[in-house]
Amino acid sequence: MAIKGEIIFPGDKSISHRALMFAALAKGESRISNLSTGVDVQSTRKCLEACGIKISNDGNDVVVKGGKFSDPTEPLDCGNSGTTTRLLLGLLSGQGINATFVGDNSLSARPMNRILDPLSQMGLESESKDGKLPVTIHKSDLTGIQYESPTASAQVKSAVFLAGLGASGNTSVKEPILSRNHTEIMLSELGANISTNRLSTTISKLTFSLSPFRLDVPGDPSTSAFFGAAAALIPHSEIILNRVLENPTRTGFFALLEKMGTGIECLNQWEETGELIGNLKIFHKSLQGINIDENDVPVLIDEIPIIAILATQSRGITEVRGAEELRIKECDRIHAICKNLKKMGADIHELDDGFIINGPTPLYGSKIETFHDHRIAMAFSIAGLVADGKMILDHPECVSISYPEFYDELERIKQ
Ligand code: S3P
Repeated sequence: MAIKGEIIFPGDKSISHRALMFAALAKGESRISNLSTGVDVQSTRKCLEACGIKISNDGNDVVVKGGKFSDPTEPLDCGNSGTTTRLLLGLLSGQGINATFVGDNSLSARPMNRILDPLSQMGLESESKDGKLPVTIHKSDLTGIQYESPTASAQVKSAVFLAGLGASGNTSVKEPILSRNHTEIMLSELGANISTNRLSTTISKLTFSLSPFRLDVPGDPSTSAFFGAAAALIPHSEIILNRVLENPTRTGFFALLEKMGTGIECLNQWEETGELIGNLKIFHKSLQGINIDENDVPVLIDEIPIIAILATQSRGITEVRGAEELRIKECDRIHAICKNLKKMGADIHELDDGFIINGPTPLYGSKIETFHDHRIAMAFSIAGLVADGKMILDHPECVSISYPEFYDELERIKQ
């Protein structure tokens, strides 16, 4: 079996969330094509609808009539989605909305104080369950702050910027390492007063309504990574990933694949609404282990589960460090990776902030615990392609959080 063919991916999840939120903020009718088909983005849509924003489907487009938010009458159910919760906490605080946020078991265990702390410094009154969901925000007058974020988190900085749109004065965030910068790019494209100087970005209160816009969301690089990895792992494979987002804050995985020895060609690259997009060809070559440290992590944070699978089939040691944020994602991903890979026969050693893998080793089909985490389910489905024996995933359907079409597409490109 080899992996062959071309894929066009549904829209990037991070940009899709933001597109819906900015369209909700813009006065008038915005049109978004190629929105992510995942359940997480549906959660954002439903929360915005609950806040009075009218959203409809028109063929392949999603049409958003934005401009005015109202208090939701029920708690906002953010499902499994950290981005929905954290960005909406910022956006709705800035718009003077009273709301309660709830989520599923995984989301309810994740820290929200990383958002509530800076928002409370801005003047937000809120209640939470020890810094976790449920969280209630109360209409408050916000004032801009200068926030030094302890973590390189796009969700944290975006929440503060979105609150800053409704706060008096200027709001700045400085982060230790640059994380994905879609919020900054989109706000700048929409004409907001925002400026970036290396790791520091400042935004001013929005004193005019954003104009409605059209956006064709670029393909999701985090989803495409699983298919790129499949081609990298299996001899005689070659795949073309079309119209993938190639923002440098998101392409760490592809740079790493190349360093590990995979064949990668950038077929062409262009810019649309401030974001780099490209078509990539990826083909199999033998892989070698690699080191990843805390400076590398932000640009490939969501790809570490699939990097672990690649490492088991690479010559030598792969060491991942400085990735402790993985412990508070949809599940404890370091634990999920190590537990499942050990079961499959990999030589892996768990660290507090990462893991060490010595490869290559054969992998054996096993019962995999996904912990209901979409990226764990997809990573281990790809591991199954190179494993001897049958793989059984306990909750395979959780891939729908980001990519409901995952299994169908994988079948289509297997030859
Ligand atoms: C995201 C930011 C990242 C990432 C998540 C999506 C975003 O989270 O892991 O999947 O869209 O802003 P953190 O900001 O917590 O690192």
